[in-house]
Amino acid sequence: GIRPLVAGNWKMNGTSASLDEIAAIGDGMKDGLDARVDALLCVPATLLSKAADVLASAPVKAGGQDCHPMEKGAHTGDVSAEMLKDAGAAFVIVGHSERRTDHAETDAIVNAKAQAAWRAGLVAVICIGETHAEREAGRTLEVLSRQLAGSVPSDATHENSVIAYEPVWAIGTGLTPSADDVASAHAHIRAELAGIVGAEAGRMRILYGGSVKPSNAVELMAVANVDGALVGGASLKAADFLGIAEAY
Ligand code: 13P
Repeated sequence: GIRPLVAGNWKMNGTSASLDEIAAIGDGMKDGLDARVDALLCVPATLLSKAADVLASAPVKAGGQDCHPMEKGAHTGDVSAEMLKDAGAAFVIVGHSERRTDHAETDAIVNAKAQAAWRAGLVAVICIGETHAEREAGRTLEVLSRQLAGSVPSDATHENSVIAYEPVWAIGTGLTPSADDVASAHAHIRAELAGIVGAEAGRMRILYGGSVKPSNAVELMAVANVDGALVGGASLKAADFLGIAEAY
C-alpha cells in the first residue's frame, strides 16, 4: 500500500517562539508513530532553517509553502526552491488555494513551480480544490480535472510529488465534505492522474485537506484513496498534529 503522510501547513504563523511546539511534534512522532505514518511541517520561510535544525533528528521533514519558478534573479521578496532546499526543506507546497487567490496563481504557474521544486530536489505538494460556488454548481469534478491537467507536470512521480485535495470552502471553516464526497473526489483525482502520469498514479499520495482535526481524522483518513492529510490550523499545536497522526 501507499505510506500515508500527515503534513502541516503553518501558513503565516510562527516565530522563533514556536520552535518548542515544533520540537514537541518531532518528539511525539518518535515513539512509534513514525513507523505508521510520514510527517511533514511546512513552516514560513523565515522559520525554515531553525525548524529544520530542530527536526534534524526527528522523523518529521521540514518544508516551504511556496516557491518562485526561477532559481534566482530580480524578483524582490520571492524565495526560490533552491533557497528553501538550502534552508533545510525537503518539500514545498505549490498552488495552495490561498496562493491562487491572494497572488492570482494560475495552473500554469503552479505547474512551473512544481518543476522548480524538482529542479531543486524538493518534493512538490501540488494543491487543487473547488470553491463553494463551483461545488454548488455541480462542477467539482470538472474543476479538479482542469486543475490537475494544468498543474501537474506529466513527469510527476510518487517520489517527486504529492497531490493535496483541499475544497476551498472546507479550509478554516470547520466544514468538511461527507466521506462519500471525499471518496468520489479522490477516486476521480486518481483516475485523472492516470491520464497525466500513467501507472505512477497508482503510487502517488493524494492528501485530503480542509478542517482536519483529531476528532474527524479517523473517518477522513479511512476513506479510499485518501493517503494522508494536509492540516492547517490543527497543525499549530503538537497535541492536535499528533492526534491526527494517531489516526494511522
Ligand atoms: P485548515 O486545516 O485550517 O482548514 O487548513 C487547511 C489548509 O489549507 C491546509 O493547507
